Amino acid sequence: MQRIIPKSIFFLCFNLLTLISPCQSRFLLPRCDDSNGNYTSNSTYQTNLDSVLSSLVPAAATTTYGFFNRSAGQPPDTVNAIALCRGDADLDTCRSCINDANVSARDLCPNRKGATVWYDDCMLRYSGDTILQNLDSTNGGFIWTPDNIPNSNELYQAIRPLMDRLKSEAAGGDSVRKFSSGSTFGPGFTTIYGLMQCTPDLPEDQCYSCLETATNTIPNCCNASLNVRILYPSCNLRYANSRFFNSTVVFPPPPVEAQPRSPPPSSPPPPPPSKSSKTTVIVIAIVATVSSVILVSVFVCIFIRRKRKPEGQLSENSVHEHGGIDEITTAKSLIYSFGVVRAATNNFSHDNKLGHGGFGVVYKGKLPNGKEIAVKRLSSDSGQGEEEFMNEVLLLAKLQHRNLVQLLGFSLEGSERLLMYEFVQNASLDKFIFDSTKRVTLDWEGRYKIIGGIAKGLLYLHEDSRLKIIHRDLKASNVLLDAQMIPKIADFGMARLFTPEETQANTCRIVGTYGYMAPEYALHGQFSVKSDVFSFGVLLLEIVTGHKNHSFQNGVVIEDLLSHTWKSWRDGNASNLIDPTLRDVSDSIRDMIRCIHIGLLCVQENACDRPTMGSVVLMLSSSSLSLPVPSEPAFFVNTIANLQN
Ligand SMILES: *[C@@H]1O[C@H](CO)[C@@H](O)[C@H](O)[C@H]1NC(C)=O
Ligand SMILES: *[C@@H]1O[C@H](CO)[C@@H](O)[C@H](O)[C@H]1NC(C)=O
Ligand SMILES: *[C@@H]1O[C@H](CO)[C@@H](O)[C@H](O)[C@H]1NC(C)=O
Ligand SMILES: *[C@@H]1O[C@H](CO)[C@@H](O)[C@H](O)[C@H]1NC(C)=O
Ligand SMILES: *[C@@H]1O[C@H](CO)[C@@H](O)[C@H](O)[C@H]1NC(C)=O
Ligand SMILES: *[C@@H]1O[C@H](CO)[C@@H](O)[C@H](O)[C@H]1NC(C)=O
Repeated sequence: MQRIIPKSIFFLCFNLLTLISPCQSRFLLPRCDDSNGNYTSNSTYQTNLDSVLSSLVPAAATTTYGFFNRSAGQPPDTVNAIALCRGDADLDTCRSCINDANVSARDLCPNRKGATVWYDDCMLRYSGDTILQNLDSTNGGFIWTPDNIPNSNELYQAIRPLMDRLKSEAAGGDSVRKFSSGSTFGPGFTTIYGLMQCTPDLPEDQCYSCLETATNTIPNCCNASLNVRILYPSCNLRYANSRFFNSTVVFPPPPVEAQPRSPPPSSPPPPPPSKSSKTTVIVIAIVATVSSVILVSVFVCIFIRRKRKPEGQLSENSVHEHGGIDEITTAKSLIYSFGVVRAATNNFSHDNKLGHGGFGVVYKGKLPNGKEIAVKRLSSDSGQGEEEFMNEVLLLAKLQHRNLVQLLGFSLEGSERLLMYEFVQNASLDKFIFDSTKRVTLDWEGRYKIIGGIAKGLLYLHEDSRLKIIHRDLKASNVLLDAQMIPKIADFGMARLFTPEETQANTCRIVGTYGYMAPEYALHGQFSVKSDVFSFGVLLLEIVTGHKNHSFQNGVVIEDLLSHTWKSWRDGNASNLIDPTLRDVSDSIRDMIRCIHIGLLCVQENACDRPTMGSVVLMLSSSSLSLPVPSEPAFFVNTIANLQN
């Protein structure tokens, strides 16, 4: 039973880790279209919407040009949809972004006939109205970060020539791509990078006019910020003081040679620059950038380092929609000022400390209105900008389930990030099942309810919430119990709050806990809903047996629950595994053994052999359902030890 865990396995894990998942594209803004009302479930409109998106999304996997349109159905139930990827996005980025957008659009705008969602790398839009060649520069929004500069006129003057150039370049694009990017010197020692794009179905004049509307919005929307996005259904614009686009991307020639471009129609758009002058512009831009980046970045660093936010200022991003206020109010109601939270936790006093999780210390707090909260102070720099962080928190706050700890809000101040949760009365599950005196208070009925609750919470994260959250660190200490002993899963979605950095291959990005991690996750960094199912299986076995999966003494495993369970099960002695405090008083031995059976199914070595959480919930609720026979589970310690040879 005794096995030595080589210390080096932890380093092995570091080395074996490769990229965990393709980078998630950053979600920016939804815009639900209320003008045409809602469709009803199972209506023709819904069928058409499903069908149009199910052909649009795969189309993104094959086309090189980043713009897709599809329609389905007959009036009055016709559904039109378009997707537009950012001009510099490669096929993989584009595809995965549109996939995300497909899911989030219907999640954020349930049953709406029309919706637009913007991501960093793409936009998805559907509507009952005609979309193609239909200029829409009203139903948009803007996003800016409060890195504003004191002298706004200086900024606007500096970027005007860049904006003018980008407008003409984007509008002068061809019928498959209307995109432009470039840079200029900004105030101080900054370089300002800009990007513009229209949906390429728009004629040149409409594209130009849409971008003009966007440009004219800048002074009125964004408090002279150095990081601004203006998003309209037909066009968008972004500028920032750091390079955010890929300027080395090479555009393939258009598929059909477009006819010689017609001269720009009537009034506003100036003629696009001739071919040769365009080349010059690009060359100059590149040369200027390359030589200036090195020089300028030194100054920019100094500049940024000096520029600290004044003490006590509420640091927040601003997300605005023209006309719509939903997002603003949600965002606003979730923001807590750092000062208030610090006061609520008595300046993060040691006495208020509730525990230490994987991502930081948790404190108990009391808001001025008397409401009790739990505050997680994230320990490390998440590597995420404020805006991304806030968008993720907004999404997580939308997850509501009785078996999840509710996220109430957040606070940002410099590099400090705080998350506010509902306060849950009875601490965590491990404080009960692994405690020799407290375990007695948790009878079988209570434990069975807890198992069922955890399963339902996890199922919601995996399937019902549409966001498809993979927890990655499910364990007894991440299950909290409220006053009625209802389990609430904590720490979900944490992985979303940390950006995968470029250096990812060199850092251990594994967020799980040794002993709960599925082998494919621990060894290869591959996580999926099935790696959560594995953790759930371990947890289930711990609840029934009252034993920790791995207990260590001086680096030696003195107990390995999975192999022990397997051997007893195989030899028909499963009832010996049950926690003695349950075994002696309960007449539900059969149910307990059934739970052990389900636990073994969840910890199968091959992820495909593990059930989904949907099946687990079913198995738990219906005792007549016959269960498959498990085979030998994954012995994590073994697997790793073998790899050492
Ligand atoms: C459509 O449904 C949403 C929520 O599902 C609701 O808030 C909205 O008022 C509905 N709109 C109409 C026009 O019924
Ligand atoms: C829609 O159809 C599904 C399956 O055909 C059915 O289960 C569901 O109850 C229907 N929903 C409504 C609201 O009619
Ligand atoms: C789009 O999202 C819906 C609902 O979330 C999902 O059922 C569907 O499979 C997705 N389509 C594609 C092609 O990914
Ligand atoms: C806008 O900028 C001014 C200074 O330029 C600053 O005092 C103010 O706080 C900013 N407003 C917001 C909402 O960031
Ligand atoms: C719209 O999609 C169809 C194919 O479904 C394609 O033939 C057509 O060129 C597209 N239109 C535009 C403007 O991209
Ligand atoms: C930029 O695009 C080029 C060509 O598509 C690609 O090889 C390169 O990896 C991209 N760079 C970044 C930082 O995305």
